[in-house]
Amino acid sequence: MSSRMRRIAISVAGSTLTLSLAACGVLGGAESGDEAQVKGNDITVGLLLPEKANTRYEQFDYPIFKKKVAALTRDRGRVLYANAEADAKKQEGQLEEMIEGGADAIVLDAVDAHAVAEGVAKAKRAGIPVIAYDRLAEGPIDAYISFDNELVGEVQGRSLLEALGGRSGSATRIVMMNGSPTDPNARQFKKGALAELTGKVRIAKSYDTKDWKPENARANMKKAINAIGADRIAAVYSANDGMAGGVIEALEDAGVTDLPPVTGQDAELSAVQRIVAGEQYMSVYKPYPQEAENAAEMAVARVQGKDIQFDALTRDNVDSPTHKNIPAQLVPVVALTKENVADTVVADGIYEASDICTAKYETACAAIDLES
Ligand code: BGC
Repeated sequence: MSSRMRRIAISVAGSTLTLSLAACGVLGGAESGDEAQVKGNDITVGLLLPEKANTRYEQFDYPIFKKKVAALTRDRGRVLYANAEADAKKQEGQLEEMIEGGADAIVLDAVDAHAVAEGVAKAKRAGIPVIAYDRLAEGPIDAYISFDNELVGEVQGRSLLEALGGRSGSATRIVMMNGSPTDPNARQFKKGALAELTGKVRIAKSYDTKDWKPENARANMKKAINAIGADRIAAVYSANDGMAGGVIEALEDAGVTDLPPVTGQDAELSAVQRIVAGEQYMSVYKPYPQEAENAAEMAVARVQGKDIQFDALTRDNVDSPTHKNIPAQLVPVVALTKENVADTVVADGIYEASDICTAKYETACAAIDLES
C-alpha cells in the first residue's frame, strides 16, 4: 500500500467496515460458477493459529472464523482447528494432520513463517489451497489476508511522539519491545515505528521478544531499566498489548508510579482497561471480524470454485521472500486511545462497555463517559 493510502486508511473510523460485495452485485450466488457444484457446502476448512499467550486468537479469530464458515455453508462446513502454542514444530505436525485429515483448504497463521514453507508446499502438492492468515507464510500460498502491518507500526510510532508532546532529542530515551523474530509482522511493525521515531528520539534499548511472550517482555524491560534507569525512560514502544502488560509490570516492580507512555496493539480487554485508566497510552484496534470473516469467505470461495468472489476479496497484492504478487487483502487499522474506545471496540461489538467498566474502572469510565 502506498503511504498516501495508508494515511487515508488510518482516518477511516473503526466501525463497520465490512464491504458488502453481495450488495454490489459482485458475488455469484451459490449456484453460479462451474465448479460451485463440485464442492458444495460439505467442506472442511483447517484453521491453524499460532499461540495462546496473547488473547486475540482464542477469543476472536477462531470463534469469528468458525461462525462465518457455518454461515457460508448453511451449517454444513466443518472447521478443523489447532493452536500451536508458539511451537513451530508442533504447528508443522498440525499442518500435516490437516493435510492427511482431508481439509479442503487451510488457513494458516504461522509460528515461524520461514520454517513452515515446506509444509505449505506439501499441502499444495496434495491439491489443498493454503491461505496465509495475519502472518505472511513463505511457500506457495494461494492468498494472504492481514492488516496493513507497516501501518500498525507507523500508528504506534506516531502515537508515541504525540504522547511525548513535543519532547525529542537524545535525552528522550525510548525502549523498543519488538515482537518475535520468526514473525514477519514483527519486522514490519518495527519498520513502521522506526520510520516515525528515527531521528526524533533516542532508541536507548531495543529487544526482539521470543515467542511474543509477555513474561519475556517483562524480563527484557527489567534489563532496560537496570541499564538506563527507570526515571530516565521517556516512553516505551511495545509492539503489542500482551507485552505492554509485561513492560508495565516491570516498571511497577521498579517502583515507578508515574508511568511513561506505553504503546500496544490488539485491543486486548486488559489493555483497553489500562488505557481507560491512563496506565497504557494506546493500542491499535484491528477489526478482527473483517480479517476472520473475510478469511473464511476466501477459503470457502476457493474450495467452491467461486473465482470472481475470491478475486474480489483479494484486490491487493504482496511479495513474500519466496513468491511474488500474492493476491491479498489488507484491512485498515485504527489507533485506539481513551478518546475513541466507544467508537471502536464498543461500536464494533468487540466488548460491551460493561466488560471494560468493571468496579475497578468505574471512575475512569465515568470520566470518559463510558457507561455500562
Ligand atoms: C499479530 C498480533 C499479535 C502478535 C502476537 C502478530 O503476528 O499480528 O496481533 O499480537 O502476532 O501473537
